[in-house]
Amino acid sequence: MSNQWSKKQEAWSARFNEPMSELVKRYTASVFFDKRLAEFDIQGSLAHATMLAEAGVIADTDLQAIQTGMNQILGEIKAGEFEWQLDLEDVHLNIERRLTQLVGDAGKRLHTGRSRNDQVATDIRLFLRHETDRIQDLLKNLIKALVTVAERNHATVMPGFTHLQVAQPVTFGHHLMAYAEMFERDLERMQDCRKRINRLPLGAAALAGTTFPINRNRTAELLEFDAPTRNSLDSVSDRDFAIEFCSASSILMMHVSRLSEELIIWMSQRYAFIDLPDRFCTGSSIMPQKKNPDVPELARGKTGRVFGHLMGLLTLMKGQPLAYNKDNQEDKEPLFDTVDTVVDTLTIFAEMVEGIQVKAENMRAATLEGYATATDLADALVKRGMPFRDAHEAVARAVRYCDVQQCGLEQLTVAQLQDALKLAELGYSDELVNDELCAVLTLEGSLQARNHIGGTNPEQVKAAAAETRKRLGL
Ligand code: ARG
Repeated sequence: MSNQWSKKQEAWSARFNEPMSELVKRYTASVFFDKRLAEFDIQGSLAHATMLAEAGVIADTDLQAIQTGMNQILGEIKAGEFEWQLDLEDVHLNIERRLTQLVGDAGKRLHTGRSRNDQVATDIRLFLRHETDRIQDLLKNLIKALVTVAERNHATVMPGFTHLQVAQPVTFGHHLMAYAEMFERDLERMQDCRKRINRLPLGAAALAGTTFPINRNRTAELLEFDAPTRNSLDSVSDRDFAIEFCSASSILMMHVSRLSEELIIWMSQRYAFIDLPDRFCTGSSIMPQKKNPDVPELARGKTGRVFGHLMGLLTLMKGQPLAYNKDNQEDKEPLFDTVDTVVDTLTIFAEMVEGIQVKAENMRAATLEGYATATDLADALVKRGMPFRDAHEAVARAVRYCDVQQCGLEQLTVAQLQDALKLAELGYSDELVNDELCAVLTLEGSLQARNHIGGTNPEQVKAAAAETRKRLGL
């Protein structure tokens, strides 16, 4: 009779009368994904045991046995020799059972004053703290790559777009620095969300706290948490810190996706603004000429997966009454996949961005095609005393004139520009148009003129890059 009992049921034992089917066992188990938390689980257990020994709840000899046993277990896990058992449901029970096998009663004492509910909440927080720190470093690497390419191209002219129509000249450096700004805000969001991750739930036990004389401040100190959480029910149940992380990750991936979209467009033959190194592209099995920007396309695609995880976690949480419910076991896979996607994407992007090959001549030619300096012409007329709306109208006429003549504004002579603007019709003198006015129409003139914080003047772009380096220590 007894051999039909699984080891899992032995964990809560006497209360149960019938064995679990294999399917239900698999359905309720989490060990195949939460074993990823093993190192953090051990870290948390060691701190808990130390605190228990200091509080006199377990003997020093028990603590030593637990430390020795955990050391061995960690070695086994790292060497891939640890035998994970489905029957033991999750990472926590697997490690605890092995500990007891190795050190006997001391292993059985580890769970004093603790529950898997506060244990798992602690593990996830330790894991996420580690990963947000790693992501912060990776974000800095990506920002550094953007800044490096921006510096090289602080004066490289390209069309700035609105509505994907040529709008005004900008520099490629300025364009890239826009992404550096976005990723710096992502960095801030990660730093901020870390503050709420870094609280210790241990001590909440199952939901209501424990009768043992625990010292939560001490455990928090040992695990380098900023403080213990303040309410035991809240500690074991909410996963808002994980949702917040996924939200920050979603925004980050949204930025990655926007950049990807641009890289893809810029690499298409219609634009031909850039090329990406071959190692980030693939060919076609049928079309020999093809070189496809697979990496940015995949990043754009994987963004959807991260948004999905955010929605998944929000939905997981929304119907749960206090305190812990087994629903929360479903928090891990989305969280792990979010971390993996973000980490891989950022790592690859930093290298790919550094490798962007700029086709400056094409960028320049595209800028000349779209009357990109029309606003500069209108501004110059305003500076000569014309109200902006009249200047706007006059320049619109000049653009129509160029459309018919099939030329650019900057190609017009003074006489042609006078002809094109038809200032007399609006009640102004043709003398407003002279060589100085024509000079405003060059791409370089347009860039130079936007000389203020946040503008596209090449010196401002250089300064913005230098300041970013200084702020982030790059
Ligand atoms: N594997 C569980 C999880 O991930 C651990 C906590 C289980 N607690 C419980 N009371 N069943 O959430």
